[in-house]
Amino acid sequence: MSKPVFEKHLFVCTNQRTGSDKRSCGEQHGLDLTAAFKKSIKEKNLDMPIRAQRAGCLGICDFRPTVAVYPEGVFYVNVQLSDVEEIVQSHIVENKVVERLLLQQ
Ligand code: FES
Repeated sequence: MSKPVFEKHLFVCTNQRTGSDKRSCGEQHGLDLTAAFKKSIKEKNLDMPIRAQRAGCLGICDFRPTVAVYPEGVFYVNVQLSDVEEIVQSHIVENKVVERLLLQQ
């Protein structure tokens, strides 16, 4: 199995639904979240390949806004701009999942 290109890869849902009553992450600061993750990661100047990027619907729209982190396959839900720093510091830097924001299944 080949080594992943990125040590951590964040997918921030920015899906914006049109013509539907169902709401989507894009309406709830998905783009702002993406920018905030990029900024926080850049500011930390970490010595590992990390990428935060926009993504389409992650399939858990009821819990928006949503963020997935790989390679762990962790899903964070109801993510607010004020949560970005904690996710980056805890999950990305310290490798500790932010339990309070995890998708409960
Ligand atoms: S619209 Fe974001 S998870 Fe579906």
